[in-house]
Amino acid sequence: MLYDVPVNLGDRAYEIHIGAGVLGQLGALCAEAGLKGKCLVITDENVGEHYAKPALQSLETAGYTAGMTTLSPGEQTKCGDRVFELYSRCIESGLDRHSFIVALGGGVVGDLAGYVAATYLRGIPFVQVPTSLLAMVDSSVGGKTGINIPEGKNLVGAFYQPQLVLADLDTLKTLPLRELRAGLAEVVKYGIIYDAMFFNELEASSQQLADLGDIELLAQVVGRCCEIKARVVAQDEREGGLRAILNFGHTAGHALEKVAGYGEYVHGEAVAIGSVFAARASVELTGLSPADCDRIEKIFQALGLPVNAPGYKWADLREALAVDKKTVGGMPKFVLSSEIGTVSIGNEIPEETMERIWHGLNE
Ligand SMILES: NC(=O)c1ccc[n+]([C@@H]2O[C@H](COP(=O)([O-])OP(=O)(O)OC[C@H]3O[C@@H](n4cnc5c(N)ncnc54)[C@H](O)[C@@H]3O)[C@@H](O)[C@H]2O)c1
Repeated sequence: MLYDVPVNLGDRAYEIHIGAGVLGQLGALCAEAGLKGKCLVITDENVGEHYAKPALQSLETAGYTAGMTTLSPGEQTKCGDRVFELYSRCIESGLDRHSFIVALGGGVVGDLAGYVAATYLRGIPFVQVPTSLLAMVDSSVGGKTGINIPEGKNLVGAFYQPQLVLADLDTLKTLPLRELRAGLAEVVKYGIIYDAMFFNELEASSQQLADLGDIELLAQVVGRCCEIKARVVAQDEREGGLRAILNFGHTAGHALEKVAGYGEYVHGEAVAIGSVFAARASVELTGLSPADCDRIEKIFQALGLPVNAPGYKWADLREALAVDKKTVGGMPKFVLSSEIGTVSIGNEIPEETMERIWHGLNE
């Protein structure tokens, strides 16, 4: 079973391949995509332990000279120091302009390795092999690469598309449950922003999804998310407008991550809380029905995700919102929904309303 989802970006077009037990096809797919020469696989310890060997074997079987470098897991790895170390690994491994990098891991490895590929020798090809659900449905698709600096998350980066994406659903079997659920928050987001029918299907199958019982269902869900993201990115590669709909739930979510300290909430958990905040604001400002708002809240709960964050003061959250990347003149901008499946970007929420919604959420 291998689902292919095309990302139509003209001369930067590529395929997302999704299947179960397909990691062994990595080398052949790289060859099919026209990749040549040496390659360096970049992974982290958690992922490398399970998947480094099969990935290397597949590349070598296909005739590639493949090296491997393994990083410490976690968000702190996505930093400038690691970028410079990886440039050295690239040189040591003899990578030239015709070589390529394989990012084998979650969003941290994908963003970091992608940024190294975008900048080493002014850009060499790279391949995304996402192993977390979040990376499969979100970070590996669309070409945003980057790192964190002490002043903030993802403040340095490049738009740089991979040559192909290969998502092996079997790798999710070793993903910690909390990370799996966090990925499901992004899955739900696609239903809210783009596809009411998909949202209905997710509601109906939330139990099977939450316990990963049905690989075929998961393949369809990952495929549908990739299709939606690919469609959005094909229309707006560099976030001039439409692509911003992908930020639903992220404005308040990012602020909460910052206030709570990175790591207290994993990204998807903060996005779930931020989505409920945005849904409640949507009821007041953009005509979302209270019933749809309730459905949004319930689906996150059914998937085992938090929907509020008691214990965090509004004043702290508001301060964090003021320095959000998308804030203009101190006023944060929100993606809001008028009905499930339809959203608008660039909305401001009156001060009093934001504060009241935050308190209502957490009382
Ligand atoms: N580029 C984009 O468009 C984009 C979009 C969303 C998020 N992101 C970025 O993605 C990052 C978050 O990604 P993430 O949630 O995948 O985090 P992550 O890469 O830190 O992975 C989460 C944890 O799961 C482990 N892991 C991953 N796959 C595994 C597997 N199959 N088996 C066992 N362990 C596994 C990792 O080692 C890590 O400990 C953030 O840095 C965020 O900024 C980027």
